[in-house]
Amino acid sequence: MLRRPATGQREHWSEVYAGSRAFFGEEASTFAHRALDRFRRNDVKAVLELGFGQGRDTLWFAEQGLQVTALDYSEQAITEMTAEARSKGLEAWVAAQVHDVRQPLPYPDGSFDACYSHMLLCMELTEAEIAFVLREVHRVLRPGGLALYSVRSDHDVHYGAGPHLGEDVYEVGGFVVHFFTEAKIRRLARGYEVLAIERTQEGSLPRDLYLVTLRQDPSVIPLPVPEEACMTRPMEKFQEFFEATHQSQALDGKTKGLLFLAASLAGGCEL
Ligand SMILES: C[S@@+](CC[C@H](N)C(=O)[O-])C[C@H]1O[C@@H](n2cnc3c(N)ncnc32)[C@H](O)[C@@H]1O
Repeated sequence: MLRRPATGQREHWSEVYAGSRAFFGEEASTFAHRALDRFRRNDVKAVLELGFGQGRDTLWFAEQGLQVTALDYSEQAITEMTAEARSKGLEAWVAAQVHDVRQPLPYPDGSFDACYSHMLLCMELTEAEIAFVLREVHRVLRPGGLALYSVRSDHDVHYGAGPHLGEDVYEVGGFVVHFFTEAKIRRLARGYEVLAIERTQEGSLPRDLYLVTLRQDPSVIPLPVPEEACMTRPMEKFQEFFEATHQSQALDGKTKGLLFLAASLAGGCEL
């Protein structure tokens, strides 16, 4: 489980966007340009974008003739991007929706040719939650569809610099950032063929990013989220188990006592 900063990240992003018209700049990112090359070579027409922010890449993709379905959990992001799409006459090319990616994606199987997300998976998400997102992306992609994502890397100057919130997650100037290693990218690529893992830098910090290109493999369905393997919520899981067994008539008093002792010991441990 992650420790959470006092201000929720969703509110934080909305405040950031309300205070700055182009927080990540006016131009489409370099990653978007690289992605479009890949999309063109793979006959991609319908793209799902996760965590689009103020839409610098979304609107540019739409201008290039892609049909973009764009999700973000910030209401402010939706309001701003929808208005911008309207003012550019792109509303027929962009459909934006408020959605938290920790929830199932609201689309039928095989709906998209590609999924694109620039610095979304490195937000306030546990590894188990990221695995869940990638499993949902696998489901909504057509067979052999592309998943392109970027994340902050373990070479980033801020990796390990701020308060540690759990796993590889740190607070960087009020933003919660989950840093990735190449090993983590490969571990999370279940159900995909890894086509490329590249590194680049963006912005003035600069942010050091992995750019990941995956191809959905329809013959491998990713397993349910390996929460136990990630050990993100061990105490909650133990509590569920303890409560279920405590109520069980099948266990004698001594066994229940031992379980209680184990629960107390585990509760005192720093996990
Ligand atoms: C680092 S910004 C990147 C924005 C945009 N992709 C860009 O590069 O300009 C991350 C975005 O992800 C959104 N986000 C973070 N966690 C999310 C979640 N759980 N569900 C949906 N959106 C999320 C934030 O609101 C923010 O707009």
